[in-house]
Amino acid sequence: MESFGPIAPHYDVLMANVPYDSWAGYYRLLLSVLELDPDRILDACCGTGTVAELLTVAGYQVSGFDLSAAMIDQARAKAAAKGLEIPYWVADATGLDLGQTFEGVYSFFDSFNYITTLEGFRSAVARVAAHLEPGGSFIFDLNTAYAFEAQMFDQRDRRARAKIQYEWQGSYCPESRLIEVNMTFWRDGQEFKEVHRQRAHSDEEVRQALEDGGFTSVRSFDSYTLDKPRKRSDRIHYCALLD
Ligand SMILES: C[S@@+](CC[C@H](N)C(=O)[O-])C[C@H]1O[C@@H](n2cnc3c(N)ncnc32)[C@H](O)[C@@H]1O
Repeated sequence: MESFGPIAPHYDVLMANVPYDSWAGYYRLLLSVLELDPDRILDACCGTGTVAELLTVAGYQVSGFDLSAAMIDQARAKAAAKGLEIPYWVADATGLDLGQTFEGVYSFFDSFNYITTLEGFRSAVARVAAHLEPGGSFIFDLNTAYAFEAQMFDQRDRRARAKIQYEWQGSYCPESRLIEVNMTFWRDGQEFKEVHRQRAHSDEEVRQALEDGGFTSVRSFDSYTLDKPRKRSDRIHYCALLD
């Protein structure tokens, strides 16, 4: 049961209540706090491209990539339907080689947690660095171990009027900091399943990977605020600048 395969055509329905607008606004806020004004930016693990579209409409030159061909199919179809020119690639963050550089890279919605080994995470950070121009920024969010401990993935919506019904059950191993989430979805009389795996990369691992990748000025925030992360932050946004 692959992840982001069967769900891809239904992903935007499932995420209908996600405040992507304010996430794009938060990205712009972080850029202004860091006194950055990138033009050419890359959405890493862009999914169906909702944030990429919002930032394109706001005037940025956005490109995106994702491991899932099914998600990229959706992103391309959406952009084409709206007349937006957003280059999209199917690519793996851990071995990224797009043959071009950007002024900024961002990655939202715990996408880098889906890289479930420390080696993979470290090489994804290094590949982001290889796609940035000097002084370029990398801004991304991560779920924390606290989020997994708090069973944030245990969710269900079986209301008859829901456009898509779902039941998710996570199983977290504190030693490996890996969570496996069994997901069942129902839509239009069809049932389908996915298994999602995430790793809670520790703050120390993240900072070391960034430093080893050539990043400086690393800052972190309790997501969607300008406050420092708290013990009980379930999501953290990291900002780093390439030397
Ligand atoms: C929770 S979704 C978020 C998608 C999008 N960023 C959003 O905000 O809706 C996580 C995405 O990460 C992608 N992903 C997971 N591992 C990846 C990898 N190694 N390289 C590229 N994309 C990856 C998945 O295919 C999926 O589209």
